[in-house]
Amino acid sequence: MQNVIQYINENKNNHLNELISFLKFQSISTNPDYNAETRKCADWLASNMKSIGLENVKVIETDGQALVYADWLNAGADKPTLLIYGHYDVQPIDPIELWDSPPFEPVVKDGKIFGRGTADDKGQVFTHVKAVESFLKTEGKLPINIKFIIEGEEESGGEAIADFLPKNKELLACDCILISDTSWITPNMPSITYSLRGISAFEFIIEGPNRDLHSGSYGGAVDNPIHVIADIIAKLHDKYGKIAIPNYYDDIVELTNEERENFKKLPYNENEYKADLNIAETYGENGYTTYERQWARPTLEVNGIYGGYIDKGHKSIIPSKAGAKISLRLVPNQDWQKAAKMAMDYIKSITPPTVKITFTKAHGGNPALAPIDSKGVASAKYALNKAFNMEVALIREGGSIPIITDFQENLNAPAVLMGLGLDSDNIHSPNENFVLENFYGGIRASAYFIENFGS
Ligand code: BES
Ligand code: ZN
Repeated sequence: MQNVIQYINENKNNHLNELISFLKFQSISTNPDYNAETRKCADWLASNMKSIGLENVKVIETDGQALVYADWLNAGADKPTLLIYGHYDVQPIDPIELWDSPPFEPVVKDGKIFGRGTADDKGQVFTHVKAVESFLKTEGKLPINIKFIIEGEEESGGEAIADFLPKNKELLACDCILISDTSWITPNMPSITYSLRGISAFEFIIEGPNRDLHSGSYGGAVDNPIHVIADIIAKLHDKYGKIAIPNYYDDIVELTNEERENFKKLPYNENEYKADLNIAETYGENGYTTYERQWARPTLEVNGIYGGYIDKGHKSIIPSKAGAKISLRLVPNQDWQKAAKMAMDYIKSITPPTVKITFTKAHGGNPALAPIDSKGVASAKYALNKAFNMEVALIREGGSIPIITDFQENLNAPAVLMGLGLDSDNIHSPNENFVLENFYGGIRASAYFIENFGS
């Protein structure tokens, strides 16, 4: 292990420079304009994997973005097999004017690397590639068998991998699925996440008159699609912060008292939380704490609304159309397709007859619950503690990684979420960044995980 750790310490600059190359690809999976760049990113990752000695490296074509697979299976059949999952795609960059440096020209400043995908997820997933490299370059072998499956459309729902997985159970067969795509509860408490919320996302469009109308000539005589959208959105929650869709809470698993007590033991400072976000008050479902609201309660957010004239100045019209993008966060026992249908049925039922409504196809994934007593969780605790020399927490988080539940069911193996991010990373936001110490420490943590999982 000493040689491996020494290699990691001596190669910090190389690892950082390679990460920078990885970050330069504009692999925005949700927008087809970037398909060619996304594909180039997959090719680059595959060639990096090949160069470090991984075998059977493949860029696998799908109906969507390509998957990258690689393995090293020479540890022997008596050794466990680890499947490492991550994603090389990133979120869109807008609003571009709020970035301090261009999102795809990574810069290092104040001990952090800034750029889209630095923390979510290129920087995190790359720690595992560099840990494997460190074993292969020093020892010439790994103490366990390792497979990588890195997808290119996690940020847009992950349909390709969801389709690929059940048809390739043999290829991906493993004893544990290791994922670094989550965050720590505080900057000095590395965290293992044992549950993520699911997600269901869709868009609806309200169509009024067949063209934009003069708001003087027609105002008051024809319904306005933006008013309709505002009215619909206002009816999505009740005054207690609960989702107003009928029977929406019927399926969900309530938090146990034990879990609520455990959440209360985790560090949380309301004043710091508010100061960080520059808000006067937190907000959410009555009767629940911030962690409970974020991690274990269903929520509904409007992610964007559009329609009418939003450019500089003023234009007096009734717009012909308006739309809204919605995401539902789901908790154990909710099904993402059923939740989408319930939401769409409800929205349809409150849409007035003055307009036409259409929905886009929903995408999403079910909530994930990973066991906390697996060998992998023990290895992750050991690894994070050893790499960062800090106490390790066991937490839930509110974000989603749609494929986790499918992995656990299809491969009959537990997932371990050994995250490396911080809340200050600005994922999905301008000035996304990754703390360099978390990157280097993450490579060490991955190496310690591999060592410990094989023992
Ligand atoms: N890495 C995140 C998930 C995450 C974020 C977990 C923060 C824990 C804390 C992941 O890449 C992500 O953002 N997923 C999307 C999925 C969606 C677009 C289908 C999400 O949660 O919005
Ligand atoms: Zn991610």
